[in-house]
Amino acid sequence: MFGKLKKILATATIGAMTVLTLTGCGGDNAAKDGGSKTLAVGSSVDFAPFEFQDEKEKEYQGFEMDLIRSIGKEMGREVKISNIGFDGLIPALQAKNIDVIISGMTINDERKEKVAFSDPYYKSGLTMVIDEKNDSVKSFKDLEGKKIAVQIGTTSANEAKSIKDAEVKELNTPADCFMELKAGGVDAVINDRPVNDYFIVTSGTTGVKSLPEMLTAEDYGIAVAKDNPELLKEVNDALKKLHENGEYDKIHEKWFGKETK
Ligand code: ARG
Repeated sequence: MFGKLKKILATATIGAMTVLTLTGCGGDNAAKDGGSKTLAVGSSVDFAPFEFQDEKEKEYQGFEMDLIRSIGKEMGREVKISNIGFDGLIPALQAKNIDVIISGMTINDERKEKVAFSDPYYKSGLTMVIDEKNDSVKSFKDLEGKKIAVQIGTTSANEAKSIKDAEVKELNTPADCFMELKAGGVDAVINDRPVNDYFIVTSGTTGVKSLPEMLTAEDYGIAVAKDNPELLKEVNDALKKLHENGEYDKIHEKWFGKETK
């Protein structure tokens, strides 16, 4: 399992570097040329089941990858997805290297000062993962004075930093956080619930458990530049259409089964 995570991580990092080099030379996205048929999408492809790289598949996989491809189709645009580290996504959008962000990004006031968000499309929230044998941590209030790993630039990072006397390690990806936990470097990982559950259940990872308590309830939105209300409307219209024609439900069921929305 670890080998696999490391490999995914390495691929993701190389991918992100390539993309930054490419987008640095201009790019042909709609943001730059005022409305080409391309939709340049930025995502931190490290967040299964929302976005991840499967060794067997060339294309990025996941709920949001399917969703944005369907949105692009509705809009009549070709979707090009760039893998960018989570904390680099908003800067890339502001620099107009990408047109939209879809990356499990929680809609919040701090981010609304920098970007505009689409209508919410997924309800999430934060939970924690700890060592299976850890009986002293039963709830978030037990994390005072503990060591916590979080992905840099996330809502988890903000929450962890507000816990009294906690020592917060901000790492590049959730996979890094889980490795740190397995290595005994931290007591807990705080991260989005569906990703924690997927990590444990689907990857079959042993030795750790995900606690059911939710620290926050959060809504994911697609981020668009603040000065592009036309694009925001196009995205919202497409999203609405996918809800009406059953496509959203299909994609949701593919990745989450019958779980309630
Ligand atoms: N929902 C959290 C946030 O918005 C975490 C998102 C992390 N996304 C990712 N693709 N790694 O801060």
